[in-house]
Amino acid sequence: MARLVIVSNRVPDVSDGAAPRAGGLAVGLADALVPGSVWFGWSGKCIDTRSHEVTRAEAEGVTYATIDLAEADHRAFYLGFSNATLWPLFHMMPSFVTFDSAEYKAYREVNEQFAEALMALLRPDDLIWIHDYQLLGVAADLRRRGVRNRIGFFLHIPFPAPALFELLPCAEELLAGMLAHDVIGFHTPPDRARFLEAMAAHGYQVQGDDVLHEGRRIRVVVTPIGIDVEGFSRLAGRAIRRVEAKRVVDSLNGRTLMISADRLDYTKGLPARFDAYRRFLGSYPEHRRRISFLQVAAPSREEVEKYKSLRDELAYKAGAINGAFSDFDWVPLRYMTRAAGRGLLAGMFRISHIGLVTPLRDGMNLVAMEYIAAQDGADPGVLILSRFAGAASLLPEALLVNPYDIDAMAAAMHRAMSMSLEERQERHEALLEHIRTHNATAFSRSFVAALNRFN
Ligand code: G6P
Repeated sequence: MARLVIVSNRVPDVSDGAAPRAGGLAVGLADALVPGSVWFGWSGKCIDTRSHEVTRAEAEGVTYATIDLAEADHRAFYLGFSNATLWPLFHMMPSFVTFDSAEYKAYREVNEQFAEALMALLRPDDLIWIHDYQLLGVAADLRRRGVRNRIGFFLHIPFPAPALFELLPCAEELLAGMLAHDVIGFHTPPDRARFLEAMAAHGYQVQGDDVLHEGRRIRVVVTPIGIDVEGFSRLAGRAIRRVEAKRVVDSLNGRTLMISADRLDYTKGLPARFDAYRRFLGSYPEHRRRISFLQVAAPSREEVEKYKSLRDELAYKAGAINGAFSDFDWVPLRYMTRAAGRGLLAGMFRISHIGLVTPLRDGMNLVAMEYIAAQDGADPGVLILSRFAGAASLLPEALLVNPYDIDAMAAAMHRAMSMSLEERQERHEALLEHIRTHNATAFSRSFVAALNRFN
């Protein structure tokens, strides 16, 4: 079997000799990361000047190879073009987009740097699997260096409507670069359709789900990422026995817990979610004092201006909700701006009667799946899910909402509070079935199979 080389901007930190922490991509790839595989990317560290020096660490037979980024590249490539241009544009939020040609130049150069460092690691029959929007140009840079291996690419965020993609001055160059891959994967059929439409609009030949280019066929596949359902369910089962979970249950005093857990990102729709909770408390007074909403918001990309202003806006809204509705012995909203460990979160999901996942736009959203996996089948909670999360296409039995519609979200909270046990069980059973079918193993196997089948 060919060796698999994973390439992504972030790489699990195994420097302390520990097994990699089980984050989203590490879980999604667990099945493919057999001993002998390589995972290459950014160390998370910044240095003064650009360097191709690769640091290697090993855990469970997998080699984790990393490079440091120059401070200036981190600003222009990561904070700039990746997260202030591509991120908002691909999430179809054009008013958040800034474009700076110097940042785009740095993006191209860092992609080159990745390719150059990879050259020292690659063997002729390796399967190379590149991940996400930070690295759209690496495959083309590898091809220019003579690499003939099979190269796959998976986009973890949405692909935008072509009219929005066209706002990018470098739209053509990015699309042309993507044709250096053999297989390109998306989470949902609409993402793939928008990508193929953009390709066709640029005059490339689209045939069915393939793009034909210079005598080559590029396969465009839909392989949604998933989670380790049984593993997360076990984690939740263990977590509710922990003292932290018991303290939360005690603090609720018999009230219902509603939970959200997100990176503090404007795509996650937190301000509208807070507005909806406020509307719910105002419009359905019978639920006041019976509910506690816990929002866990992990700070993210804090040096990007839009993330700073979001934090201020949320602090204001959270204060306003608690100011307006709190009682001497009841606080309606618990708002935490720090990350929580997976185990603890799994326990919180288990004891929450409502899981609220309402991004304005999201590639997939694994929290929705984790909330389902954490439930007790005998008394499951209700998932309220944005129809604009990729997960909505796999999870139709969730209460699907439009995250821009404040009244509809408030009504969904009311519905979740009032739903019968029978209906909750029926919905949960169906949802569990979907996340088992589309689990982490299915994700990595179907993508690697597509890459292997390619010829
Ligand atoms: C999203 C992206 C990932 C990214 C992650 C965390 O899930 O799809 O590529 O790694 O957010 O963001 P960060 O900027 O901290 O890597």
